[in-house]
Amino acid sequence: MIKRIVAATNFIRKGIQRTPDLAIILGSGLGGLSKLLEEKVEVNYEDIPGFPTSTVQGHAGKLLFGYLNGIYVVMMQGRFHYYEGHNMEDVTLPIRVFANMNIKHIIITNAAGGIGDHLNPGDIMLINDHLSLFVPSVLRGPNLDRFGPRFPDMTSVYSKRYLDKARKVASDMPFEVKEGVYAYMTGPRYETAADVRALKILGADAVGMSTVPEAIVAKHSGMEVVGISFITNKAAGILAKPLSHNEVLETANVAGENMCQFVHALVPKLFK
Ligand code: HPA
Repeated sequence: MIKRIVAATNFIRKGIQRTPDLAIILGSGLGGLSKLLEEKVEVNYEDIPGFPTSTVQGHAGKLLFGYLNGIYVVMMQGRFHYYEGHNMEDVTLPIRVFANMNIKHIIITNAAGGIGDHLNPGDIMLINDHLSLFVPSVLRGPNLDRFGPRFPDMTSVYSKRYLDKARKVASDMPFEVKEGVYAYMTGPRYETAADVRALKILGADAVGMSTVPEAIVAKHSGMEVVGISFITNKAAGILAKPLSHNEVLETANVAGENMCQFVHALVPKLFK
């Protein structure tokens, strides 16, 4: 694992002039943000030694380096999901590489189904905590001591300091930014109606198939994490119709502009 992390880090370092101040994982709905990058440098995942290879043809993915609203960032365009068959080590390898590069801050975004009554398609939700019950821990196996302790604290995975800053930025947006708990399900199937009823009782406001493995590894590595969900649909069983992936993608593509506007405004404020 460490060898892969070091090999990837060394390769990436050769291609860029300085260490980014912030990493951003672009989930569905946030793709537009990459167009706002200035002085962009691209590194394809497939060229990075030690990086996992994508299982989705035509979606190999890349790292994008550049200035976003004045801050030097690295964006992940395309991420590795557990449901694709990757093990958790692969899913979270990029986060370890960022930590190894000494990047201390990360914004992790995703598309999610809304469980809370207050969450509707098109909404943005700041993640203030998560549920990852029933899923094997991403930190299982030998501990990587150089990154963090064997039994890391998870009482505030999502930085309270950054949540406060994000709430302030949200209050200046021409739309409401909501807040809640994100429940991680491995997918790739959507939930049953009973899953969603149970998750609601357990305290979840939204459900999705990413983010939590990356957030746990970022927290373990001492990074400050911001999590943001883009609600693309009401979770399964809430409406009297089946869930369609096309509908999820369509909402993400059409209504993702608010998400881009919010993250664009948030980035410089994290450093003030
Ligand atoms: N469930 C899980 N993942 C998702 C959903 C959902 O309803 N919507 C977008 N990603």
